[in-house]
Formats: sequence, C-alpha cells, structure tokens
Amino acid sequence: MDEIEHKKVEHFFYNAMSSYRIIPLLAACAHSPATAKLRVIEDSIDEVAKAAGIDKDALKQYIRTHDDWLSYVMSDFMFYATKYYNFCALPEISNTREELYRFAMTDQLKSLDWPTSEFKVTSSVIIDQGCGFFPFIKYFVEANPKLAYYVGFDKRPLESQVFLKQLQAKFPDINIEFNEEDFWKSNAKRRIHSTNATLFIGNFLHCFQSPKLTMICLLENYYAVEEVIAIEPTPGSELDFCFKFHMYMHSGGKTVEQLDIDEISSLFKETTVQKLNSQYTMYSFKCRVRK
Ligand SMILES: C[S@@+](CC[C@H](N)C(=O)[O-])C[C@H]1O[C@@H](n2cnc3c(N)ncnc32)[C@H](O)[C@@H]1O
Repeated sequence: MDEIEHKKVEHFFYNAMSSYRIIPLLAACAHSPATAKLRVIEDSIDEVAKAAGIDKDALKQYIRTHDDWLSYVMSDFMFYATKYYNFCALPEISNTREELYRFAMTDQLKSLDWPTSEFKVTSSVIIDQGCGFFPFIKYFVEANPKLAYYVGFDKRPLESQVFLKQLQAKFPDINIEFNEEDFWKSNAKRRIHSTNATLFIGNFLHCFQSPKLTMICLLENYYAVEEVIAIEPTPGSELDFCFKFHMYMHSGGKTVEQLDIDEISSLFKETTVQKLNSQYTMYSFKCRVRK
C-alpha cells in the first residue's frame, strides 16, 4: 500500500470507526476466524469502501494487517455496550476482550526492537506495577544475571495460574510472584520493604489523569524504593494507528508529555531519558528527594 493510500485509509478509520455501517462489520471481524472473516463480509466491505471513496483492496489490506487491534477495539465497543445495557453476557465478552487485548498488545510490543542492555538495574528485585501479562520480564532477566525476584501487581487477574507456572518455568533462576490488587484502592504500605528493589512501570503512567500524582502515590506505597523505571510511548512519536486509537479511547489520547516528566523528575535527584525504539522512551529516576 503506498503512503498516500495508507494515510487515506487511516483518515477513513478515524472518521468511520464510529459510523453505523462499519461497526457491525468489524464486530463480525472480531468474532470469526481470521481467514473466514473477510470472505463472509467481503461484499459489505466493498460497499463501505465505495461509500467512503477509498480503494477496497487497500481497506481489506488494512483490516488484515491491523486484525488484532481492530478485533480488540470491536470487542471493547461490545464490552461497553454490554456494560451500559446490563446484558448478562458481560463476563464472556469481558474474557474475549482481555484475550484480544493481550494478542494486540503482544504484537505491538513484538514488532519493536528492545535494546536489552537498557534494562540493567542496580537492584535484585523488580516490582512491576501494572504488569499486565509481564511483557518486559525477559529483558530484565537477560540484562540482570543477579536478579532474584520479579513481583507483579495488577488489578486485572492473570488469565490463569498456568500462565504464572509457565512463566516461572521459563525463568527458573528467579522467583516470580503476582498480586491482583487495585493500586488506588490499596492503602496499605506494600510488603516490599527492601531498599534493594527497582519499581518498574511499563505503559502505566499514561493510564491516569495526572502522572505526577500517580508517581507520588507509587512512592508512598513503595516507600523504600530509590529507583523507578518507566517506559512510555514517546511524546509525538508516530504510534501504530490502532494502538493510538486504543489510547484515545482509554485515556483521551493522552501520552505522557515532557511537562509530566519534568514534574516527576522534581521528585528525584537524577533522571535519565533513553529512546528505546521508534515508539517508546525509557525514563529512569534515581534517588528520591525526601522532605
Ligand atoms: C497499558 S497496560 C500495560 C501493561 C504492561 N505493563 C505492558 O507494558 O504491556 C496498563 C496496566 O495497568 C493496569 N492497571 C491500570 N490501573 C490499575 C490500577 N488502578 N491498579 C493496578 N493495575 C492497574 C491495567 O490492568 C493494565 O494491565
């Protein structure tokens, strides 16, 4: 697909994602096996492309290459529709949505280069707040042969205990723990009292209105931590379109901006900033300013 056609298709998706014709089609995409999808809805896609004045093959190619994110976005729509109308199918849709999110996010992260050497830390314990499905554990393990513990916290449950067992089997030399906990609801000081722990927050800060307030609460909860590593989409970088749309739906499209980083930096004595790849930046904060 050439650049102009690509931009046209993106523009179309911005405008049409919430139009009534495309939603049922994409919802069908979300619920049939990949190969069957396009065949079943081919004619309708042709019609939509015609109405939008875009090339039908370019549209189909876009759907194919963004299959995972589109499926997720559609299940997200269905999740909210179900939630608002109080249908009883919510748990089932919720599971599908979680699963599709994981596929989409895994693809998003896999498509990028992650320089392992940047994941070097000074401590032997990593606390991964908002760990999701632990996508960054392997880089920390590779970069830190002396790592002993990796402790994940997330408000979402893991898909199963088997997942945790498999993860542990993959990294037998460290202890892996998972705690299902809503960070905002938990007032208790964390069990991790060691000063030899690094707090890691990957794709976490942008989930909240105020990254600085989030950091202040994190520092209160993990009161012994002296090193915090954050990974966030680089402000202004060209994010994958569907990922951008997902961000837009969940946090109003707000990425963590330089101003947020400056505010957070004021809580620490040292800040280093490292561009990791075309889409992500790592921020490393060391030595808290204690009042
Ligand atoms: C964008 S995802 C990032 C997941 C993972 N760290 C990654 O980089 O792929 C944000 C994660 O933060 C978790 N999260 C959001 N709000 C939370 C809260 N209040 N307490 C605990 N976890 C939370 C979500 O469940 C989700 O797994």
